[in-house]
Amino acid sequence: MDDALFERVGGEAFFVDLVDRFYVGVAGDPLLRPLYPDDLAESSRHLALFLVQYWGGPSTYSDERGHPRLRMRHAPFVIGVPERDAWLRHMLGALLELEGEGRITPADASAMREYLHMAANSLVNTV
Ligand code: HEM
Repeated sequence: MDDALFERVGGEAFFVDLVDRFYVGVAGDPLLRPLYPDDLAESSRHLALFLVQYWGGPSTYSDERGHPRLRMRHAPFVIGVPERDAWLRHMLGALLELEGEGRITPADASAMREYLHMAANSLVNTV
């Protein structure tokens, strides 16, 4: 992981935009939408803060939520390959849009894609 990525993409606004676009996809996804609460605002905020922290920004996520323990936090949801693929499709789509707009370099976008694939695979909890 590269601590300077947070600064290179211009700080928190990049992650807020990424996650906002991701949740537009989730909101219209018949497989994923039922997993999330009615109001997506907090889910959205937590994911943005988590990614900010992961990529070298402030640790507001852990200050508010404690250790991420993502496997544990996702245990209540059945996440199989279809859910993983849908999640990744929305997230990678959002990232590609921002890359297309020149908000992130191709090298940083690749690093982020690699991480997102790895993280999403690690959260599959059913066959
Ligand atoms: C593999 C497919 C995934 C599915 C179906 C999924 C689904 C969910 C759901 C339903 C929630 C609960 C939302 C809420 O209660 O507000 C959640 C929370 C969260 N997810 Fe995922 N997720 C996936 C992958 C990921 C990945 C790859 C990451 C990290 C890169 C991630 C990071 C988070 C974070 C940070 C939270 C909030 C945890 C908290 O409560 O503090 N998720 N996810």
